[in-house]
Amino acid sequence: MKRIGILTSGGDAPAMNAAIRAVARKAISSGLEAYGINYGFAGLVAGDIHKFEAADLDDSIDEGGTMLYSARYPEFAQVEGQLKGIEQLKKFGIDALVVIGGDGSYHGALRLTEHGYNTIGLPGTIDNDIPYTDFTIGFDTALNTAVDAIDKIRDTAKSHQRVFAVQVMGRFAADIALWAGVASGADAVIAPGFDYNVEEIANKLKANRAKGKDYGVIVIAEGDANSDAAPEFIEQLKKYGDFDARATVLGHVQRGGVPTARDRVLASKMGAYAVELLLEGKGGLAVGILDNKVQAHDITDLFNAKHQPDSSLHQLADDLSF
Ligand code: F6P
Repeated sequence: MKRIGILTSGGDAPAMNAAIRAVARKAISSGLEAYGINYGFAGLVAGDIHKFEAADLDDSIDEGGTMLYSARYPEFAQVEGQLKGIEQLKKFGIDALVVIGGDGSYHGALRLTEHGYNTIGLPGTIDNDIPYTDFTIGFDTALNTAVDAIDKIRDTAKSHQRVFAVQVMGRFAADIALWAGVASGADAVIAPGFDYNVEEIANKLKANRAKGKDYGVIVIAEGDANSDAAPEFIEQLKKYGDFDARATVLGHVQRGGVPTARDRVLASKMGAYAVELLLEGKGGLAVGILDNKVQAHDITDLFNAKHQPDSSLHQLADDLSF
C-alpha cells in the first residue's frame, strides 16, 4: 500500500478537518502518500483528487467545516457509480481509503472494500447516531453550540416571562436534545423515542409559575431534517394556557464553528487509528470509541444495530428542572 485517499461525505461536522489532518499526517509519517478527494463520493467519481503535502494540513485542526467539501451522493449506491469511482482510484494509484461521515457514507465505504479497496469509516456527524461508538466527531461541538444558544435564550425568557421551545438538530436521533436539555436545565425535553404530553408540560409550566418561576425553556429535537417541531409544539401549548410562548429553531448554526478540544482529540485519535488499520491490511471497518477506547467494528455489524442514546438523561432533565 502506497497511497491513501480521504473523503468527507454527508452533512459537514466540526473537527472533520482535524480528522482529515490526522489521517493525512499519520499516513505521511508512516511513509505513505495521502490524497484528498473533494466533494465526497461525487468528487471521487469526477476525479476531483489532489495530493496532500504535510504543510497543507497546517492550521486546520481548529477550522470548522471540511476542507475537502462534502456532498450527499446517493448515486454511489449504484454499481455504475462505484465502478466510475474505482477507475479514478486506479488512475491516481490510490490503494485504500478513509471515509469520514454518517450512515450513508458507510455504505459507500463497504462497497469500495468489496471491490478490493480497503476502506475505513470514521463517524463524522453532529447527530451522534452511529452504533458502536459512544461519540461521533462533531457532536461535542454542536452540543456546546446548542447549549450556548439556549443559555442566551433563557435570558430573554426570564426578562419577558416567556416560554421558549428551542429546536435542535439530530434528525431522528435524540442525543443533542437530551444532552442539551440536561446541560441547559430545560424544563422538558421532547425527543424521538420518548413519549410526551403537551397538556402535562403546560401543567408543569403553570405549577412552576405558582412556585415563582415564571418562564420556561423546552428543548425539542427536530425529529426529522429541518422540521417545524418547535413552532408546532408552541401552537399546541397555547391551547392549554395563557403562555407568551415562542419557538426558536437553531438550525445549521449547530454544524459550524471552531471544534471543541474534545472533538479535536477524538478526531485525531480516530484518524490515526484508521491509518493503522489500513497498514494492517484491514478494511470494511468502522472506527468508534467505546468506554474511552478507540476500536473498530465490521461495517456490516453497524447496519444491523441501532444507536441507543443515553435515555437516563430524559428523566434526569425532568427530575432536576424546577
Ligand atoms: O446529519 C446532520 C444534520 O445536520 C441533521 O442534524 C439534520 O437533520 C440534517 O443534517 C440537515 O440536512 P441538510 O443540511 O441537508 O439540510
